[in-house]
Amino acid sequence: MSGTTDDANETPASDGTGVLARARRLVRLARADLKETDDRVAQLETAERRSVERHSLGNRISHWVQAILFFLLLWTGFAIWTGNYVLLESGIWGGYYVAFGIHMWTGILIAAITFVVFPYYYVFVDKHHQLLELADIQVGTAIAEAFVGLRKYLPYYHDARRAYDEEEGDWIAHHPMQKTFFWWIAIFIGILALTGFGMYREMTTESTWWIDALGFMAGWLALETLKQIHLLLAFITAVMVMFHIYFAVLPSNWDVLRSMVFGDVNAFIVHSGREEAGSEEPSSEGGPTPTAADGGQSRSTEEDETSDDAARGGERTDE
Ligand code: HEM
Repeated sequence: MSGTTDDANETPASDGTGVLARARRLVRLARADLKETDDRVAQLETAERRSVERHSLGNRISHWVQAILFFLLLWTGFAIWTGNYVLLESGIWGGYYVAFGIHMWTGILIAAITFVVFPYYYVFVDKHHQLLELADIQVGTAIAEAFVGLRKYLPYYHDARRAYDEEEGDWIAHHPMQKTFFWWIAIFIGILALTGFGMYREMTTESTWWIDALGFMAGWLALETLKQIHLLLAFITAVMVMFHIYFAVLPSNWDVLRSMVFGDVNAFIVHSGREEAGSEEPSSEGGPTPTAADGGQSRSTEEDETSDDAARGGERTDE
């Protein structure tokens, strides 16, 4: 619809140097269907199915330790906040001291797991890449647009998340919220730990150098402010984890949930190699080749780059 005016704007910069032309190309790329820019998607229909390890033992153990620590933190934090110490009273120790001790040590441990152990296994050993990739932008854009009714959900997306590229040793797609979750959990747990240590530094009579160092926020913010930030982030993080669990236990994700227990998932094996049997057309050098395997869309990436408002309009407005 806005194709003609935009095209007119783009004409002087059709060599690709104009800022506007670049921006338009980026938007177009972001809105392109994943299967047009990643030929592995077309391989899904005929892909071999095989059990592949999705989460190594270290990954699984650190994930569940992280989960247990998180629930301990919620429980003891809630007890301290409300003054309700059910099950936390012990001998001569009042509930507060027990809750506080558990809260502090689980906080330290969860920070170590979240920043060191879990990323080591999840990202480096198991290669669940967490940096933003083009596929994330495309899938995220597609899901967001489908959510508000601007286009249909990607029919192959569920399978694409279970597609394993043997050459790359990586899964070809993640849910965009998963990567976001990974980062936000780390950021929030980091700030929770720092505000926690800030409060502790203000409360303790005998500090040590590492509490002074980790509690540096005490020098900037009042105890009340630290507490408010700590509480707010605790609520936000708890809600995020609730959604994380909700999506994990949906029946359509049981195979992935199971893989967080046993390790394996029944994967679609795809190949990024150019000699891949599944793609009938030879791939172009360096860039992904659109195989146009799906009826209705048979454009090439090159066409995508240079023309195509009309074509894209047809793709997305039919529903
Ligand atoms: C009963 C509770 C939980 C369940 C059932 C659960 C389930 C899962 C599953 C199945 C995955 C793997 C997703 C995939 O392979 O694509 C995962 C990943 C992950 N979990 Fe959990 N989890 C729980 C609690 C937690 C908690 C409490 C935290 C953090 C405080 C957490 C942090 C993460 C992170 C950072 C990832 C990696 C990002 C992702 O793939 O979503 N999980 N979880």
